[in-house]
Amino acid sequence: MASYSIAVIPGDGVGKEISDEALKICSAAAQKHGFAMEFQTFDWGCDYYLTHGRMNPDDMLDTLKTFDSIFLGCIGDANKVPDHISLTLLLKIRKGFDQYVNLRPIKLYPGVESPLKTATPETIDMVVIRENTEGEYAANGGIFKAGTPDGFALQTAIFTYKGCERVMRYAFELARQRKKDGYAGQVTNCTKSNALNYSMVYWDTVFDEVAHSYPDIKTDKALVDALTMWMVKNPGSFDVVVASNLFGDIITDLGAMLQGGMGFAAGGNINPEKTYPSLFEPIHGSAPKYAGKGVVNPIATIEAVRMMLEHLGETKAAGDVQKAVISVLTEGKVKTADMGGSHKTSDVGDEVRRKILES
Ligand code: IPM
Ligand code: MN
Repeated sequence: MASYSIAVIPGDGVGKEISDEALKICSAAAQKHGFAMEFQTFDWGCDYYLTHGRMNPDDMLDTLKTFDSIFLGCIGDANKVPDHISLTLLLKIRKGFDQYVNLRPIKLYPGVESPLKTATPETIDMVVIRENTEGEYAANGGIFKAGTPDGFALQTAIFTYKGCERVMRYAFELARQRKKDGYAGQVTNCTKSNALNYSMVYWDTVFDEVAHSYPDIKTDKALVDALTMWMVKNPGSFDVVVASNLFGDIITDLGAMLQGGMGFAAGGNINPEKTYPSLFEPIHGSAPKYAGKGVVNPIATIEAVRMMLEHLGETKAAGDVQKAVISVLTEGKVKTADMGGSHKTSDVGDEVRRKILES
C-alpha cells in the first residue's frame, strides 16, 4: 500500500481550522482509494516567532526535506509580526526547495457566483504558471542611509536564462496536455517589455525561443496591464498564462475573484523534478479576525489538497475530490457565509468528505 508523509504547517489566523479540513479530505481520499497518509504538524508561524524570535527553526528545510509533500495553511498576522518578516517562512521554502512553478488554476465551478456578471464556468477556466523563485522576488538590494534625507532603496529583479526557460517549458507542456482535454492549446506570455527594457525584453526572447520548440501550441503575448483588462473583459480567451513572480502574484488575485473569491483559489508550489517536496496552499491570507470562528470557506484548501493528490500521482483520488467539490457547490445546500450561506467551515468539509466516501 502506497504511503505518503505530509508535513502540515497550519500557520496563523484561520490556518488551524482550514488545516483540519485538509486532513479530513486527505484521510477520506486515502480511505476510499486504499493508500495511507501520515501527517506531522509543525507549529511554526507568528506565535512561534513571539516565543522564539524567529518564524521557524533554522533547520526547517532539513526537517521538511524528508516529506513527500507539504500542506501550508496560511502565514502572517501583522498584529504580531510585520508581514515582510513573517512571509519569509513561505519564501524560504519556495526558494530553498526550488519550487519554481507556482501553479494556479483559475476555474469557476458551477454553483459559484463570480463578482464578474458575465462570468460562466465555460469562460473562467485558465491556469496561471507563475515563476516562483526569482524575478522581482529575488530579494536583492538594500536600504541605504535610512532615516536621512539621502536615504534610498534598491531592489533589483533577477531573470536568469535557466529560471525563465524552465518555467516557460512547464507552461508549454501543460498547454499540450490540456489540449488533449479539449482546451485551446495556447500559452499567453504575460510581459511588460514595452517599459522594462532589460528584464522583460530578455523574458520575451526566452519565451520566443521556447515557443519555437512547441509548434503545436499557439502563443499570445499581453502586457500585464492590458492582460488584467482582458482577464475581465474576455477571460475565455486564456488557456495557460506564464508570468514572472510579481506579475503572476498580482494577476492571480484578480483570477481568484473571477473564480468566485479567495475562498476558492488554491496554488501549488512545485518542484517538477521532485528533488524536493512541493507545497500546496490556499492562496488566501490568514484572516486573523475570523480565526477560531469556523466561518471561512474551506474549498480553497480542499482544492489545494486535490492538487497535492494529483502531484503525488493519486490521480483518481484527486478526480474524486474534484467531483465531490463540484457536487457540493452545484447542490448549494451547504455553504459558508461568503457564498451567502450560514454553514461552518467544518460543515462544508464534512459534506465534501461524505461525497468522496459515497462516490
Ligand atoms: C502569494 C502571497 C505571497 C506572495 C506572499 C504571502 C509573500 O501573496 O502566495 O500570492 O506574494 O507570493
Ligand atoms: Mn499573492
